[in-house]
Parts: sequence; C-alpha cells; structure tokens
Amino acid sequence: MEASPQLTKEVQRRRTFAIISHPDAGKTTLTEKLLLYGGAIHLAGAVRAKANTRNTTSDWMEIEKQRGISISTSVLQFEYGGYQINLLDTPGHKDFSEDTYRTLTAADAAVMLIDAAKGVEPQTRKLFEVCRMRGIPIFTFMNKLDRPSRDPLDLIDELEKVLGIRSCPMSWPIGAGDRFRGVYDRQSKELLAFQTEGEANVKGRLQPKKVTGVDDPSFLPILAGPRQDMDEANELLSKLKDDLELIEVAGDPFDLDAVLAGKLSPVFFGSAMNNFGIQRFLERFIELAPTPSGREAQTTTAQSVAKKVEPTDSKFSGFIFKIQANMDPSHRDRVAFMRVVSGHFERGMTVKHARLKAPFKLNKPLQFFAQERVIIDEAWPGDIVGLLDTTGDLRIGDTLCASGDFEFNGVPRFSPEHFAMVLIKDPMKRKQLQKGLDQLSEEGVVQIYRQRSMGDKDPILGAVGALQFEVLQHRLMAEYNVDVKIEKMPFVHARWVVGEGLDPDFFERREDSRCLEDRDQQPVLLFKSDWALRWAEENNKKLTFLTTAPPVRR
Ligand code: G4P
Repeated sequence: MEASPQLTKEVQRRRTFAIISHPDAGKTTLTEKLLLYGGAIHLAGAVRAKANTRNTTSDWMEIEKQRGISISTSVLQFEYGGYQINLLDTPGHKDFSEDTYRTLTAADAAVMLIDAAKGVEPQTRKLFEVCRMRGIPIFTFMNKLDRPSRDPLDLIDELEKVLGIRSCPMSWPIGAGDRFRGVYDRQSKELLAFQTEGEANVKGRLQPKKVTGVDDPSFLPILAGPRQDMDEANELLSKLKDDLELIEVAGDPFDLDAVLAGKLSPVFFGSAMNNFGIQRFLERFIELAPTPSGREAQTTTAQSVAKKVEPTDSKFSGFIFKIQANMDPSHRDRVAFMRVVSGHFERGMTVKHARLKAPFKLNKPLQFFAQERVIIDEAWPGDIVGLLDTTGDLRIGDTLCASGDFEFNGVPRFSPEHFAMVLIKDPMKRKQLQKGLDQLSEEGVVQIYRQRSMGDKDPILGAVGALQFEVLQHRLMAEYNVDVKIEKMPFVHARWVVGEGLDPDFFERREDSRCLEDRDQQPVLLFKSDWALRWAEENNKKLTFLTTAPPVRR
C-alpha cells in the first residue's frame, strides 16, 4: 500500500537522535540550549533539575532521588523550523548502564559531544562503538572553546586515531579560552564572532556578528578582541588561514553519503554554556541528519524470511527498547518505551503482539518531557511512545504491529563489564529471589548467567555499569522483599562465542577465565583482564568472540 501524503510528510519532518558524551562534557547544557531554540524555554529548567536534585515530582525511582542522578532515560520532543525533533536523553551519570546502549538502538543519528580541552574520553568511546555497530551518522560537537582547549587539528586527528572515523570540519574555531574570537563557517564562509556575555541579548540568544570571507576588512577588528590587540589579531588570522588551507588539502571533503553511512563525521565547534555555535549546529544537523530509518525484521510465517520495514509502510509497527518500572512509586507502574518504526500510531488502537501472537490494546500512550508525562493521541515513525504495561506483557525487543506477521531483529544484549554474585540473607526467600531475578533480568536491569551444571542455582550477574547492581539490590528489597548482598567478581570482559570446537573446560580450568551460559543456553566467556581476552582470541582462531549476544531464533 502506498504511503499517505501525511505519513510521508510526518516522516520527512522528523529527526530522532541521542547525544553521546563523557560526563561533564556539557550534555545537560547542550540539551538545555537546544530546547531553548525549540521554543521550550519554560521546560529547559526541568533538564537541569536532574543535575541538582531540585526534582520534586516524585515519579522517579527512589534510588534516583537518593543519589540525585538520573538512571532513567527520557525523551525530549521539540519543534524547530517546522521539524519535529526527538532527543533521546541518555543517563548523565558516569556510572551509566545498559539502558544507555539500548537507547541508542532507537536513535537514527548521534551527536558526539566532546570537551575540547579533553578530547575523546572513555565513555564517549564506548558509546561511539555502539553507534558504529549500527552504522548511524555521527555528528561531532567540540564544546567549551571559551576555555583553554587543545589545538583543533589535534582534536580532529584524534577522532581518526582513537575512534577510527574520518571527519570533516564544518566550522573552525579561532583561538580558544581568553583568545576565543569565534568560529569560521566553512560552507557559508562567514565568521560567527564570539561575543562576551554582556553583548548577549536578554533572552540569552547570542546573535553572532557575521563577516564574509577571511579577507573581509572587518575581520581583523573582530579578531583583535575587546583589547583591540592587532598583533594578536594578525596571529589568529594567520593561524586560521594556515589551518583552513591544511584541512582543505589534507582533510576529507564533505560527502553526504559518507555521513549518512556513519563513515564521515561532520565536526562543529562552539560553547554550549555561552549558547555559541548551537543554532548554526542545530540548523545544519536538521539539514544533514537522516529522516527516521526503517528496521530489519524477520517474518513469523512458516518460512521465516528477512525483510526491511520502512517508515513509510502504511501499517503501524514499533519495538520496545526500554522498560522502566516503578517510575511512579505511588502507582508501582511499569512503562515500556516504544520506538515507532512505520505507519501511524493512534491512541487506543489494537495491534498484534508478535511474540505472544495475541492482540494488544495500546491504551494510555504517554510522552515524556523530563519529569512530566502527557497522554498523546498519535505518533509517527521516529517518535518514542511510553506504554503503561499493567499486565507485564512487554519485554525489551518486543514487536508491536498491525499485521502481526513479523518481528524486528530485536535489541541486542551488550557484553557486561561488571560481574557479581547474589548472596541471600534469609535462605527461606530463595523462591522470591528467583522470581525477582527472572523478572528484573527480563526487564533488562541486569543480565543473568548460569554456571554450567548448576541450573538456576547461584547465577552470576552481569552489568554494563556497576550501578545496575545497586538498582537490582534496591528493587529486590522494595518489590520482592528479599534482602541480598552483592558480591563483586573480578571479571572485566564477557564475550559470546560462536564457531566450531569451543571447549568450555579449557576456559574453566584457567584461573583468568570462566565459561558460563546465558538465558538462551548460549556459551559466554568471562575474562579477568584485557590480556586474558586477547590470549583467548589469539589461541582460538576458529571461534568468533562477540560483544553482543547473537540473535536467537525461536
Ligand atoms: P554533562 O551533562 O555532560 O555531565 O555536563 P553539564 O552540562 O552538566 O556540564 C558540566 C560542566 O561544564 C558544568 O559546569 C557546565 O556549566 C560546564 N559547561 C558546559 N558547557 C560549557 C561551555 O561551553 N563552556 C564552559 N566554560 N563550561 C561549560 P559545573 O560547574 O559543573 O556546573 P554549573 O555550576 O555550571 O551548573
């Protein structure tokens, strides 16, 4: 069936993305400024509330309030220039979790935010790898140029050396810190002059002065800064000219296809705190970022075949990428976050739950804005909808669709980096513990691995972020009335293995590795060090070591 003009239009005007960064790079600040441009000024404070526990609405988990951090992921939606932007907000705390990774599976593009004084940091690298695995476009924003920063050529070089991605500067900074004079837009050949705070208009929206071409006579006075230091201006101008020449000759040319294939990252420079370079970035991002993409699926008919579901397919479909339980303690509810993949979603519609092969009514669809939730009537491809799951029928990776004859390829399970055992304080509560672990692992709170020949006894828990264990411990107590102690184990890597000739005993005998089974009885190897992992890879060339669980076909 052909897409209706309205469906095509709604798809065209949507952009769904996430910001990936290391803590303190300025994600909260950038998010706030983006919302400001989206005309959501009155709500911008809500984002900040996360950072300083000003949160008085009680719909976040208790633990989150206690620690003043955001474990949950919310979705921010705003309009800009007729475009509908869905910004998937990933947890800001340094102890991030698998949820952060899973959220990226719902995004069509990522903005990689880097502190220009620090360059690529560990968490950025991990999140980048997940984006690369999916092949989504990655836009880079180098932040905090108003502070002493590393040389921009160095920063660009690092993207290639550390992350292995080619990049194309869209703008170029002039000076940094006290000598930061602005950025040069390579496409429009304009200088966007950085002004000091005093010059910003009342709404805090800096209107950069625009000067065209490096040879424009008004260029130098801007570069001379407040002190009108002409020597400094000449120095900055000559560095700018040299840099521009160098990136023109030695850098990668802009290539939209390469950007969309996730092979070339457009790079922008600015300062989120000073609201500088943000609007230009937002506009270019909207212009270059992809419209909502389709997703690979497998038909559930007798002969299962692969197919791609396109956003403009007129029949509705979506998948669950995250479950958040007890967001509101007074209701003890469970919200499943669904990414709409195709068609038109309407409140109250009945669709098919592909895994359960049963009809499923989509009541009370919610949209979230930081701590606020509103009931929505409709949604389009690229949108994120929260579904109140009162019956507990929804799991991560589930497909909901009008036709009911296919399942999306699911949301991968990512290899944990933290491991632990659960010690129960009251042995009489073993049954509740078992139930709690089953349900909470299904929700994705932690991953559960079996020790070989131990059945369900003494499972080993795996998590991407250690905080997940605390959430588990807290929820086992609050919801299942089971008091447990979490005993950390000294493993740091897990790999699923596929291929011929895996000998589990070989890994069990070694002091630095273990061989376990995941919930689908797939073998998983645990390693105590980078060295142990590398050694195993080098000595088992017939095996493939995977960082995400291989798909299981039911
Ligand atoms: P995060 O969410 O990535 O963790 O970072 P967040 O936005 O909270 O920013 C971390 C710190 O960096 C904040 O300072 C913030 O003001 C500052 N920052 C963000 N963007 C810029 C920028 O462009 N220039 C400069 N100079 N600083 C920036 P803080 O002192 O930790 O918090 P606050 O007291 O300013 O709120």
